[in-house]
Amino acid sequence: MLEFYKNKKVLITGHNGFKGSWLTLILKHLGAKIIGVSLKLDKNHSKKNLINIFKLKNEIREYFIDINNFTKLKQTIIKEQPDIIFHLAAQSLVYEAVKYPLKNYHTNIIGLINVLESLKYTKKTKFVSIITSDKCYINDEKKNLKESDQLGGDDPYSASKACAEIISKSYYKTYFDKNLNIYTFRGGNVIGGGDFLSTRLVPDLINFVYDNQKLILRNTNSSRPWQNVLDVLFSYLLYSEILYKKNIRFENMNIGPDKSYKVEKILKYFTNHYDLKIKYGIDFNKKDIEKKYLKLNCEKSKKYFNFRRMSFDKSLKKTFNWYDSFYLKENMRIFSNNEIIEYINNYIKN
Ligand SMILES: NC(=O)c1ccc[n+]([C@@H]2O[C@H](COP(=O)([O-])OP(=O)(O)OC[C@H]3O[C@@H](n4cnc5c(N)ncnc54)[C@H](O)[C@@H]3O)[C@@H](O)[C@H]2O)c1
Repeated sequence: MLEFYKNKKVLITGHNGFKGSWLTLILKHLGAKIIGVSLKLDKNHSKKNLINIFKLKNEIREYFIDINNFTKLKQTIIKEQPDIIFHLAAQSLVYEAVKYPLKNYHTNIIGLINVLESLKYTKKTKFVSIITSDKCYINDEKKNLKESDQLGGDDPYSASKACAEIISKSYYKTYFDKNLNIYTFRGGNVIGGGDFLSTRLVPDLINFVYDNQKLILRNTNSSRPWQNVLDVLFSYLLYSEILYKKNIRFENMNIGPDKSYKVEKILKYFTNHYDLKIKYGIDFNKKDIEKKYLKLNCEKSKKYFNFRRMSFDKSLKKTFNWYDSFYLKENMRIFSNNEIIEYINNYIKN
C-alpha cells in the first residue's frame, strides 16, 4: 500500500495550510508529483508556514488562486490534468466563520462547487477526496456520531461542512457516477507540529510559551476526538487508495480515534512538559457556540482497514517536541521526514 501514489500527479487544494503542507511532504516522500492550489501567504505568515519550513517550494508546482474564482481554477485543472485531487482548501476556523460568514460560506461551499465543476473538464482524474469535518452532524451531545446520522450544523462553519457533504453526494449522483469517484472524510480536531493558527488550542499554548502571548481559553471541559496530524493524513491516503482499488464510486467516512479527551488533559500535559503553573483567562465575551461533547463512531473505516493509531499521550509528546525543535532551529525538513518514516514503519507496515 501507498506505493500507489508513486509518480501520480496529485493536486492538493489548501497545500500551504497546516494539513496540506504535511500532506505535501508525505506525498513527496511517497514519490508523487505535487500541484498546490492555495491563497498566497502574506509576508507576516511566511516564516511560520510549513511549506517554507519544509523547504518544499522548489519541488512542487504552486498556483495561488482563490477557489472562488471558477475561471482560474478550471483553467488550472484543465492544464494540469491531475490523477488525484485532495480538496482541503477551506475557511477552517469556527470563530472566523462567525465573524465573516459570507467568506466562510463562499469558500467552503461555492469553492467546493467550483472544484467539482472544474472536474467536468478532465477525464484523467480518478478520484477527488474532499475533506469536510466531524462538525458536519447534528450533534445532540448524547451519542457517538456515525456516518448515517443526520447532517447539520448550528454555527456557520459546521453548517458549511454539512453543505459540503450534501453537495459532494449530489455531484456523484448527478454527474460523476461513472467516470470520477468522490470520497468525503469527516475528521476530528487535529494536533501536530507546525500549526500556527491562533484560536486553535495547541498554537495558542505554543504562542504563550514561545511568544509571550496572552492565553485565552474557551471551554476547558469540552471533549474532542483529537488525533495526530499523521494519523489523519495517512487515513486520507490509505482509505482513498483502498476505496479506489475496490472500485467504490462514492463513500463518506469518519476519521478519528475511538476516544475523545477533554481540553484539560492537553493542558495538564502541557504544564508538565514545560514545568509551568499557568494562569489563563476564559473568554466569556465569545458567545458559546461550540458543542461540549463530540465523539465519533469510526467503525465504518475499520471495516475497510484497521490500522494502529498513535496514542493520545504519544501524539501530545510528539506535538510539543516538534515545536521545541522548531524554536531550537533544528532542520525541520529532516526532523519531520524522520517522523513520517517512523510512522510508516510503526503504524502502517505492522
Ligand atoms: N485542523 C483541524 O483540526 C481540522 C479538523 C477538521 C477538519 N479540518 C478541515 O481540513 C482542511 C484543512 O485544514 P487546515 O487545518 O490545514 O486549515 P488551514 O487553515 O491551515 O489551511 C487552509 C488552506 O486553505 C487555503 N484556502 C483558504 N481559503 C482559500 C480560497 N478561497 N482559495 C484557495 N485556497 C484557500 C489556504 O490558503 C490554506 O492553504 C479544511 O477543510 C478544514 O476545514 C481541519
